[in-house]
Amino acid sequence: MKEFIIKANKAVTNGEINLKDLPGSSGRLDLLCRCVNSAFFLSHDMRRDTIFYSVNYGSPNPPVALKFVGSELKRVSPDERSIALFIKKALEKDASELWKESTSGIYSSKREFRDIILEKKNEGKRIFYLHLNGKPLEDFEFKDDEDFLFVLGDHIGIGDKDEEFLEELGAEKISLSPLELHADHCIILVHNILDRLK
Ligand SMILES: C[S@@+](CC[C@H](N)C(=O)[O-])C[C@H]1O[C@@H](n2cnc3c(N)ncnc32)[C@H](O)[C@@H]1O
Repeated sequence: MKEFIIKANKAVTNGEINLKDLPGSSGRLDLLCRCVNSAFFLSHDMRRDTIFYSVNYGSPNPPVALKFVGSELKRVSPDERSIALFIKKALEKDASELWKESTSGIYSSKREFRDIILEKKNEGKRIFYLHLNGKPLEDFEFKDDEDFLFVLGDHIGIGDKDEEFLEELGAEKISLSPLELHADHCIILVHNILDRLK
């Protein structure tokens, strides 16, 4: 199982989303939609073995965590607007501690970024923090039967405190490229690395 989590520093936390202005008034929701696209969509197929989390810290009600479960997703299509519409539906629900499903495979909850990562660590998942200045990809060995969580930042990054938290947790800091990439492109690269193990 492959899981990804992104800290969406500015992404909105209610359903008042203008679908014509995802990058602006919605707090870079465009970026989030592209990550969902990269996490799940193949040509004429979906990645059923993937879970993607976004923890939104924008106004008016942070944090709100969203969970997308590949094996349960239905009717979502790859374009940003369609994905944004499903995110809007999820954010229209009042988030509480428990995960609440809005549409098939899409859940919301009132959870912090760190709490989800900690939960995954306790489940025994191998935690990677994707960062330009991490150790090069070539220094790591991946096994097909391992479960992974890959942690990503948005256009702002995850901030010093969350970086310290990951370090203390023993997350492996990995660089995919000598160049700074977009988060959604990192997801594609990670999938490609793991696809090649099969
Ligand atoms: C556009 S970058 C963020 C840039 C932001 N200014 C920062 O300081 O983190 C979005 C995310 O993609 C990931 N990323 C970007 N380039 C990477 C690379 N070369 N290797 C691994 N992860 C990378 C990181 O998780 C980063 O937070």
